[in-house]
Amino acid sequence: MNFYDSDKLRTLLFENGFLEISSIEEADIVIVNTCCVRKHAEDRALSFLGSFKNKKNNKVFCLVGCVPAIYKEEIFKKFDFIDIISGPNSYKKFVERLKKYNGGKIAIFEEDEGFLKELIVPQISEKFTSFVAITKGCENFCSYCVVPFARGKLISKPEDVVIKEIQTLIEKGIREIFLIGQNVNEYGKDIGGDFVKLLKRVHNIEKILRIGFLTSHPKDISEDLLNLFSELPKLYKHLHLPLQSGSDKILKLMNRKYTVEKYLKIVEKVRNLCPEISITSDIMVGFPYEDEKDFEETYNLIEKIKFDDLYVFKYSPRPHTEASKMPDTVSKEEKERRHQLIFNLQNKISILKNKNMEGKIEEVFVRKKSYKKENTYIGRTMNNKPVLIETKKNIEGEIVKVEIKRGERHYLFGILL
Ligand code: 5AD
Ligand code: SF4
Repeated sequence: MNFYDSDKLRTLLFENGFLEISSIEEADIVIVNTCCVRKHAEDRALSFLGSFKNKKNNKVFCLVGCVPAIYKEEIFKKFDFIDIISGPNSYKKFVERLKKYNGGKIAIFEEDEGFLKELIVPQISEKFTSFVAITKGCENFCSYCVVPFARGKLISKPEDVVIKEIQTLIEKGIREIFLIGQNVNEYGKDIGGDFVKLLKRVHNIEKILRIGFLTSHPKDISEDLLNLFSELPKLYKHLHLPLQSGSDKILKLMNRKYTVEKYLKIVEKVRNLCPEISITSDIMVGFPYEDEKDFEETYNLIEKIKFDDLYVFKYSPRPHTEASKMPDTVSKEEKERRHQLIFNLQNKISILKNKNMEGKIEEVFVRKKSYKKENTYIGRTMNNKPVLIETKKNIEGEIVKVEIKRGERHYLFGILL
């Protein structure tokens, strides 16, 4: 979502006559876009910013995105060299004010009117693939999550605007689209729309070769959506479905509104409908009151489900959230230990899963040339796994037939047929 926001902000800046340069030293204006979902992301952004403390040199420093959205003017106290701060829902206003800027401290949190109704096509850096946000904000208030405070209420982008945005991207050569939202399953709740209907409409766009979406919430995922994996040939057979914890006690404390049993039913259903589907997930360790038994339940569940891949996070308290009012009961060392155990377990599972792909003939969409290895291209299998293909032929942007020769932890290696 942050990459997408940065790309949109670029569009607005370019339309208003600003230019992007590669050297920070020579820039007149520095804009740092930030994420605050975990403490680690916030720390990284702020320490990056802190490194400019003594290099002001008449530059205008702007901090935008979710970090200023949750700390507001407090930011100026901590970083007195910052000139402008803006939340993630105010980029049009931010650019207007930046254009007229002539000194002083400015904070912009007023939301742009019609932010999602107007067509702002992101300035994409990739040749063939792009995100398209279909919602902004979230009102689920999972107890650990800062997103509802940083990004506000759920607002869906009208279907026609989504389609127009995609068509403009197609004119620029994009062939692969990922529809993104904090919880795409809730798309349309506020405007009478429907995610399944939207996906089908996007699928009908002729020049699109591949479609993906993220993220889904287990409490909202519908049977109609799962059916699409076998109905829509251009849809990646991949479901990113954050589990967070394998303990019902913790899921309840997290306000996730599903049980392990319900989660398992979804996995079973979707694997029955589409056996080749890849399922990935997010896991958080060290949530308040997570004891050894809860952790073991999570560990055992991961062993049982066998995700294709996992993002594992150590819980960190975030401002305004319900969980931040609970004691942070798990020590840093214990969070690290639990993280490591799951990380190691997942490594083994991912290697096995990717080894299982060996010998398969796959239709691969080739996204780009590898800049690390000569005559090598990076593509995605139909279940959205990255595959490296070595060939002298230029296959960028094409769908090619590939035999998978080797499966490693993060990549498959294939040969062009
Ligand atoms: N601490 C650690 N991880 C978090 N996530 C969200 N909030 C927190 C937090 N406070 C993780 C969740 C979510 C992913 C995007 O980030 O696992 O799915
Ligand atoms: Fe955060 Fe929960 Fe909303 Fe996801 S669904 S953005 S975890 S509040």
